[in-house]
Amino acid sequence: MEDQRVLSGGAGAEERFEEQSLRPQTLSQYIGQEQVKQNLSIFIEAALKREETLDHVLLYGPPGLGKTTMAAVIANEMGAGFRTTSGPAIERPGDLAAVLTALSPGDVLFIDEIHRLPRSIEEVLYPAMEDFCLDIVIGKGPEARSVRLDLPPFTLIGATTRAGSLSAPLRDRFGVHSRLEYYTPDQLREVVLRTADILGTAIDVEGAGELARRSRGTPRIANRLLKRVRDYAEVRGEGYVTIQKANEALELLQVDRLGLDHIDHKLLNTILNRFKGGPVGLDTLAASIGEESATIEDVYEPYLLQIGFLQRTPRGRIALPAAYEHFGMEVPAP
Ligand code: ADE
Repeated sequence: MEDQRVLSGGAGAEERFEEQSLRPQTLSQYIGQEQVKQNLSIFIEAALKREETLDHVLLYGPPGLGKTTMAAVIANEMGAGFRTTSGPAIERPGDLAAVLTALSPGDVLFIDEIHRLPRSIEEVLYPAMEDFCLDIVIGKGPEARSVRLDLPPFTLIGATTRAGSLSAPLRDRFGVHSRLEYYTPDQLREVVLRTADILGTAIDVEGAGELARRSRGTPRIANRLLKRVRDYAEVRGEGYVTIQKANEALELLQVDRLGLDHIDHKLLNTILNRFKGGPVGLDTLAASIGEESATIEDVYEPYLLQIGFLQRTPRGRIALPAAYEHFGMEVPAP
């Protein structure tokens, strides 16, 4: 379901590959996240002055806001190598040991979806993060002994959509915690114009602004919509993306004025109509629309919370007045 969604914040493999050529390389090229960039630029400059590695960094926030991009920018600004892996890719302690022992001094190791690392593997990370060493057990039973291996100094950058699911000991070992925020329409318009320039797509400022307004604060969505709107403009026009062409294409893609798509509509309509505005529990909601609870929580809900359409309460999700108004429904009296 997620893969078919033109508005999903998550990336497919091909998209990740393509993103690399669109990615900013430096903090000054990176649009938005001003607070995070300011802090990081100071930490990076200080680490470079001391000729040390940067402290471990935890990046968190909804999908598609540029966590991987930021990690690559940090590595580049440090003049360091960039190695990447992800929580689900590391199944056994030996997998992590293999990654760690292959690092060169100063490297940045990026672990995406770090909240999905099994706890038993997290424990391998603790001494690696704190003392740059690895305790490995050789042999079995009474013969077993523990050997300590030194690792080169490195910076771990962990990315997660849910900082709350990280164990406290792991979270505490990151010296820098940075939360990426949704982008403003102005920032997204800049992202769209930058990407269009790289792709060689002709677009005017109003066209870019319309895409920006309908991209749910998420650059990955903005770039994806740009490509679809470019297709539309090439087939149904002269290839030039104006606000009119953008509107026509987005209507065809069933992306509404606020950037909500058919899955958002299904989710909101289920709460509004079937559950009379809520409260409805997450699992019930998930079963009703045929999605996983975790996907609803991490991918669909954050933006709806941000724009004040939904509220999470101890008794479940409730629809707020703005959601009723968006669908032309009467707001019930309190
Ligand atoms: N492309 C995608 N996200 C971007 C960002 N934050 N800055 C510049 N280009 C981008």
